[in-house]
Amino acid sequence: MSLANRSLTAIDDLSNEEIEAIFFLADEMSDSIREQTEVCRGKLMASLFFEPSTRTRLSFEAAMHRLGGNVISAVDIGATSLAKGESIADMAKVIGSYADIIVIRHPWEGAARVVADYAGVPVINAGDGSHEHPTQTLCDLYTLKKERKTIKGLTIALWGDLKHGRTIHSLAYALARFGATIHFRPGPGLELPEHVIKKLTTEYTGRLEKYDKLDGALKGKLLPLDAIYITPSVPHQLANIPDVSVQVELKTGLDALYVTRLQKERFSTTAEGKELKDSYPVVDKKLLEEKEFKETIVMHPLPRVDELAHEIDADPRSMYFKQAERGVPARMALVALVLGDRKVDIAKPKAPPTPKIDYPVYKRDSGVRCHNPSCVSTQATETKYIKPEFKIVDLKPLTLRCIYCEHEVHPPYIASLEWHEGKIDTKKYHSADSRWVEKIRPDNLIIFDSEKEAQAQGFKPSHYATGKE
Ligand code: CP
Repeated sequence: MSLANRSLTAIDDLSNEEIEAIFFLADEMSDSIREQTEVCRGKLMASLFFEPSTRTRLSFEAAMHRLGGNVISAVDIGATSLAKGESIADMAKVIGSYADIIVIRHPWEGAARVVADYAGVPVINAGDGSHEHPTQTLCDLYTLKKERKTIKGLTIALWGDLKHGRTIHSLAYALARFGATIHFRPGPGLELPEHVIKKLTTEYTGRLEKYDKLDGALKGKLLPLDAIYITPSVPHQLANIPDVSVQVELKTGLDALYVTRLQKERFSTTAEGKELKDSYPVVDKKLLEEKEFKETIVMHPLPRVDELAHEIDADPRSMYFKQAERGVPARMALVALVLGDRKVDIAKPKAPPTPKIDYPVYKRDSGVRCHNPSCVSTQATETKYIKPEFKIVDLKPLTLRCIYCEHEVHPPYIASLEWHEGKIDTKKYHSADSRWVEKIRPDNLIIFDSEKEAQAQGFKPSHYATGKE
């Protein structure tokens, strides 16, 4: 498998072996960073940053210049024709005809995926709203690998705004895939979103233990955790006894503490952000004096605000500036590989990959839509061409996962397309809690957000429209 012509819109677009291959090339390039100027000579990168950025934008642009390529850029939606109502699909088609690769940061979740669908050139997601930031995860894993030699078996705490932090979401998936154990330490009300937890526990096969279910004596010993994700690589007999496994984890201390800032730009009111700011957990010298942190490296995707005290910058455990510096060779390697200008050997998977679940897909012009107001599929300029598309991840209760932002919806009504075969009296809708949810074949399913919607499409309520049976 080659990385040439591939897009990276989510961390799961890369296998663990492909990530290792990127690190191998990044090591080689960082040893001779000024000698790479022929690698991408003549190639052009479009750098589109429609949200503020220092590290991601400038390290991608530095990477392209170091590789001998050139960069065109746009950094303000208001200065592009998106401000006139152009869709991002049209923008992608046009920019894809100018440049060889597109790097995009956009506030809408799933925007990079849409751009990748239309651009015709490789597209790299440099952060799409609160959804994912896969190349930050490459920098994070690269730092863990360099400092700890391995990721499998590490214990890593994710700290801060776990709800809105896109770096957190991509990193949590990657850590789970590499076999790390994760401690979640959110700010108040900033716990990991349900859809991320669901993916971690169903697709990465680890187990999530909620902290409030643990023995009281254990609490307060370390961080006031929200939950612990226990990787399946932890010996099985241990993982089956929750309290014991947690005690073992706490005793061994943390390998890394990954701190994030409050993502205040994701709050609808500044008052809400201000309230949370006052109770946001801070990492400082005093905290790092606890014995559990003796060997802990401190990471942060940056920028920091108040959650990471400047007094620890000179501490040898502080890794955040190195993490940012490593973004250039990591992104050089990625860009050279997807442009097909460098090749590396990619190892065959050592163990079977995390089982990929082949969920049935639900895609229709009408009916249920994503409920996430930040999802690209719900934006007025994009609904003209994006068909809502979901994976059916569960039937009881009926659960659909939007393919763009990955938020889940639990729609209340369903019907079958079978009435098309002339049985007009079967043009009925049912409750999604009724047995019909398992009887109707996925390719025949029509799913509605409301009875009004079902009725507007000519369906009448069945006996099963209100009850379970
Ligand atoms: N880590 C990160 O994404 O930083 P910037 O927002 O400065 O790009």
